[in-house]
Amino acid sequence: MAGCCDSSGYRGVFNKKTAARNVRSFVNKGLDSTAGPMVEAIRSRGIDQASVLEVGAGSGTALVSMLESGAASAVAFDISPAYETEARALLEARDIAAPVEWHTGDFVAMADEVGVSDVVFLNRVVCCYPDMEEMVDAAGSKTGRLLAMAYPRDRWPIHLFFRLLNAWLRFRRNSFRVFLHDPTAIASRAAATGLAEVASGTTSAWHWRVWERAS
Ligand SMILES: C[S@@+](CC[C@H](N)C(=O)[O-])C[C@H]1O[C@@H](n2cnc3c(N)ncnc32)[C@H](O)[C@@H]1O
Repeated sequence: MAGCCDSSGYRGVFNKKTAARNVRSFVNKGLDSTAGPMVEAIRSRGIDQASVLEVGAGSGTALVSMLESGAASAVAFDISPAYETEARALLEARDIAAPVEWHTGDFVAMADEVGVSDVVFLNRVVCCYPDMEEMVDAAGSKTGRLLAMAYPRDRWPIHLFFRLLNAWLRFRRNSFRVFLHDPTAIASRAAATGLAEVASGTTSAWHWRVWERAS
């Protein structure tokens, strides 16, 4: 797969400060409004001894929750180099001994380096990547059993917010951009990788969905 993007743009936005803030929020309030229900849906379908792949793992808060829920091992990708140290510190602070293999780089370009995992998890990641089809195809191809994804809703306040955010990034000469990919097209693309939707929900800004591979 081709991959894309100048990682320095991601590094400028997803930096050590953001990572530390995410960990503080997790410690004080738990998972966010999309990661929480997605982890719960995965738990309810069985996570014991599962292998997990998280793409855009950030500071590792969802990984920690899935490993604490019984997953046996994890592979994580994040394009920003700011996150691994913070994620490793969180894993250590929570006494998690399960193996976690961390890759810093573009998952789409590096997907061939890893095998299939039982659970694949992408919370608020597809909207940080220009090529939705490549990202969803790569995630689907690595899904053994369950795929969970959260992505923005197609609503005018979100269009406006994304437009303002991209203008601000352009002004700051940061190459990172956010993308409001068509939610229906995301769901169809996931289904086209041989997955059937088994759980879903919405918040004011996000859709989340969990798909299962037909046996
Ligand atoms: C909005 S943040 C969400 C982080 C985390 N999932 C969470 O919910 O806290 C999006 C993350 O995806 C990462 N990301 C975006 N595209 C990526 C790619 N192609 N490969 C790996 N990581 C990627 C970014 O670096 C960033 O950490």
